[in-house]
Amino acid sequence: MYIAPSILSADITQLGRDVEKIERAGADWVHIDVMDGHFVPNLTFGANVVKALRGQTKLTLDCHLMVANPEDYVDTYQQAGADIMTVHAEATPHIHSLVQRIKQAGMKAGVAINPGTPVSFIEPILSDVDLVLVMTVNPGFGGQKFIEQTLDKMAALNTYRQENDYHYLIEVDGGINDDTAKQCLDQGVNAFVAGSYIYGAKEVERPIAMLRHLEK
Ligand code: DX5
Ligand code: ZN
Repeated sequence: MYIAPSILSADITQLGRDVEKIERAGADWVHIDVMDGHFVPNLTFGANVVKALRGQTKLTLDCHLMVANPEDYVDTYQQAGADIMTVHAEATPHIHSLVQRIKQAGMKAGVAINPGTPVSFIEPILSDVDLVLVMTVNPGFGGQKFIEQTLDKMAALNTYRQENDYHYLIEVDGGINDDTAKQCLDQGVNAFVAGSYIYGAKEVERPIAMLRHLEK
């Protein structure tokens, strides 16, 4: 499993230190929530933060773009040092070409779907993506409650992957803790984003170890 702490819940004045903390605690990825105040009603980080963190950590930079017109940012995030660029299927009428462009730029291509978007909406591109991000809350804010109806989408993506011998990772994001992560793991999920569960803990080691333990 890949554990991807979300720096949305980190101490913004101490970002470098907080990323070092999760790296030492054995996290796999850093999840960076890019919000533009249009696609979602909140504004967070941009490519400059990705670039700054690239110089600070060896962890995979898992960039989740919750922005309108994501097709305008491929070169920007590639140059900033993003490893994974995940874009919302709802944010662009050109998801197919965007996925190809992200891969051509040398990044892993992820596609995200909101809780109200069915898996069938992205079925035509499932042969091409490296990762599918199933949003388990409505994007925009950390600390929300996990939406259980999304479990069926994970199961469908897992079955589809097995039947077609595809290799995309399934990632979940929103309201993830050891309890909800277990439910997702049982549906075949590979990557777990957690913000408040990890950074809200006294020591980040404990929640990371709890998640890691689930696969044993
Ligand atoms: C929500 C973001 C998440 C957020 C998750 O829009 O995409 O990555 O950080 O936060 P928690 O884990 O607190 O629900
Ligand atoms: Zn996210």
